[in-house]
Amino acid sequence: MCGIVGYVGPNSSLDVLLAGLSRLEYRGYDSAGVAVLDRAGHLGTRKRAGKLVALLDDLEVEPLRDGETGIGHTRWATHGRPNDGNAHPHLGDNGKLALIHNGIIENFSELKQELLDAGETFTSETDTEVAAIMVGREFRATGDLAEAMRRVVARLEGAFTLLVMHEDVPGVVVGARRNSPLVIGLGDGENFLGSDVAAFVEFTRRALEIGQDQIVTIRPDSVVVTDFDGNDVEPREFEVEWDASAAEKGGWSSFMAKEISEEPEAVANTLLGRVVEGAIHLPELDPIGDDVLASIDRIVVIACGTAAYAGLLGKYAIEKWARIPVEVVLSHEFRYSEPVIGPRTLVVSISQSGETMDTLMAVKYASQAGARVLSICNTQGATIPRESEAVIYTHAGPEVAVASTKAFVAQVTALYVLGLHLARVRERLSAHQIAEQVSELQQIPAKLADVLVSSERIKQLATWMADTRSVLFLGRHVGYPVALEGALKLKELAYIHAEGFAAGELKHGPIALIEPGQIVFVVVPSPRDPLSLHPKVISNIQEIKARGARVIAIAEQGDTAAIALADEVIPIPLAPPLFEPLLAVVPLHIFGMELASAKGLDVDQPRNLAKSVTVE
Ligand code: F6R
Repeated sequence: MCGIVGYVGPNSSLDVLLAGLSRLEYRGYDSAGVAVLDRAGHLGTRKRAGKLVALLDDLEVEPLRDGETGIGHTRWATHGRPNDGNAHPHLGDNGKLALIHNGIIENFSELKQELLDAGETFTSETDTEVAAIMVGREFRATGDLAEAMRRVVARLEGAFTLLVMHEDVPGVVVGARRNSPLVIGLGDGENFLGSDVAAFVEFTRRALEIGQDQIVTIRPDSVVVTDFDGNDVEPREFEVEWDASAAEKGGWSSFMAKEISEEPEAVANTLLGRVVEGAIHLPELDPIGDDVLASIDRIVVIACGTAAYAGLLGKYAIEKWARIPVEVVLSHEFRYSEPVIGPRTLVVSISQSGETMDTLMAVKYASQAGARVLSICNTQGATIPRESEAVIYTHAGPEVAVASTKAFVAQVTALYVLGLHLARVRERLSAHQIAEQVSELQQIPAKLADVLVSSERIKQLATWMADTRSVLFLGRHVGYPVALEGALKLKELAYIHAEGFAAGELKHGPIALIEPGQIVFVVVPSPRDPLSLHPKVISNIQEIKARGARVIAIAEQGDTAAIALADEVIPIPLAPPLFEPLLAVVPLHIFGMELASAKGLDVDQPRNLAKSVTVE
């Protein structure tokens, strides 16, 4: 959950580190810190609780002497409160070594006791300081920073990315990773390390993946990667597809506003190259193969949060088109239910970051249990794709706002593309039927652009409702995951109690919540819906209106029943039922953002959250 950046090279370390941290702040933002080796060979550190700006202000008042080697960190607290003392870097070897960490060292209590018994003292409540002191001791014994790191990681349990630097070895940063992200940026006479490529994309788009249980040593002119035993490893190089400007706000008031505006593009880019003359083209699935895909008897989707709601929509589409049973399981629940999976199960993980620890662990469990594992992921060089047999990358571009928006519509698009591919290999849909669905899918970006036109009206509604304490969301069939997503966005962005329900469930309990003035969003199916759900949901609206609810309907343009009953209708363009959620979700993304803004909250960095949840 923390953001990590490391630099060796001729330029100002501080400039590189602070630029990297500002791009990584979405990963964690309760404190930040840097360590720099100045040109006289002295290690200086500075760290502050609060957002990055607190550190920047501090450096403004009292500058740190700059140099050519440095590490930087933005924290999301696990062990120890977010205060100056617990912020990273932590020091070892009498202040000559600085270390930063992402993850959790699970056996830190026993290691700390061992160090206390050996006479070491601690200045923080963190698990990280244990690693700093241990690496310092091993460096004193070996004089070799990479070897010291190797000896220490052999004793650590849990998940970690560690970066370390030492006064006695200028121009060197050593990193290690286990179940936590780290990538290398390759420069010209300079090299970088980062939790993700955002840390260094401003300086280079050439990157190297680092695998599990590996150690990397960067110098200005070399990069050496080994496994934890010291054997050389050849890392895979890749080109970062987006540039620094893609991660800038570009004139928008927030990253979230920008990312919602990019929802049409996220769908279009995820389809790009995957539709050839009306047919689905997914060479990424070759490592699994059509024969295997034709013979699987079940799909289990694993994901968390918004990605899991995308999975629920994938279930409707895949079951309808390919006639394979699909189960959607929250990643953190998956392994504990002793799932019945084997070689004929396709496990599909969905993760924007590709680093969510719960999903990563579920992916590993599924592989070990012999299932076939496919990932849907938005982040190149991330861990989950590396642990999977095949990956369908969503091309939503970098998502910086902590709450997911454009990644969601891209994930749904990728699942639909997968569903149509499966329908072909299993001969459940003809080429003509697939071409019809593909054509509908290709029209979604333009229709999404139409939905964005309602933004101003939704902003007005949100502003009027700024004092609301509770909002309910109802949906049926594919509208149900949309209701869940609308409620999640409101909770996490505006800190308002919000719940999503399947509309049919209303009379089985939740209707008791309805009292005069209760705001209820209702995702209304199309009146042309072949499942005839429209009149049922209209009846639900009547039931809650009769009890005094204020209803905001997300309904197809021209839905006269919805217009007659609801207090407000947000229109969406006509689309077949399976594709409606891609359109209906956007007003709810806008509503969550605008209500949070109306309350004066930071929509990009809601409290207590982190963009990628790299602890279980
Ligand atoms: C909600 C949100 C989270 C993520 C979840 C999974 O707005 O962003 O619920 O969807 O933490 O994250 P990824 O997709 O990175 O695995």
